[in-house]
Amino acid sequence: MRRKLVVANWKMHGNLERNKLLLREVVAGVRGLRNADFAVCVPHPYLFQAQQLLKGTNVAWGAQNVHQSEQGAYTGAVSAWMVADFGCTYAIISHSERRGQFRETNESAAKSMKLAIKAGLTPIYCMGETLDEYEVGVTEAVVASQLDGVLNIVGIKLLSKVVFAYEPVWAIGTGKTATPSQAQAVHEFIRGRVAKHDLEVAANMRILYGGSVKAANAAQLFVMPDIDGGLIGSASLASDEFVAICRAANQAPGSKKRV
Ligand code: 13P
Repeated sequence: MRRKLVVANWKMHGNLERNKLLLREVVAGVRGLRNADFAVCVPHPYLFQAQQLLKGTNVAWGAQNVHQSEQGAYTGAVSAWMVADFGCTYAIISHSERRGQFRETNESAAKSMKLAIKAGLTPIYCMGETLDEYEVGVTEAVVASQLDGVLNIVGIKLLSKVVFAYEPVWAIGTGKTATPSQAQAVHEFIRGRVAKHDLEVAANMRILYGGSVKAANAAQLFVMPDIDGGLIGSASLASDEFVAICRAANQAPGSKKRV
């Protein structure tokens, strides 16, 4: 069985005081939930705070990005080792906002992914089509190129250490969610494509869905056989919403290892 995983992506939100309240409420809300995994990916300056407030709980923490180089003259950038120093479990790699706003590519994603794994982190690799791409019906081709783009560089064995996230760009922050069957179809496609390289990696890999997941739609998404949890943006900033999503994952039937 693949365990469900729910990850908060706070994006560029928060301050010390609000984070403290939010993290405390999340910890209290998910305490005792044993059937799924939970994490929050916070802005880099708050990793220390997350570490202090979350260590010893069942909520892991992570970064929203790591640079594609180990170190060097990259003003403002943060390396995989730097975030690993703060006890991170996860690092989101190539979120569509970074692809769009910071011109990240499949190649830079592959480099960041390799370094994140080397530093002991679990990368969460984001894929997904834009609205234009969705409308002309090239979702599978786009996702295939994002998947192959890293697979060809990183190799199938290392991909066993990666969590994937399918986040249709048209569903991010728009209130429009892919229907459970739409999302399931893409997740199944991703798993099937990996299965052509390695059945075991495909059967074990967790594929999260992201894009306007909220308490009201989480359970329907998590019941789908290839949806292994969620990557949650705005709903992760409200503790009651986020905790309800975590509870939905905890109650969802475990996904069978099927490809
Ligand atoms: P929203 O949940 O706000 O749509 O954001 C999704 C997302 O981008 C998570 O990485």
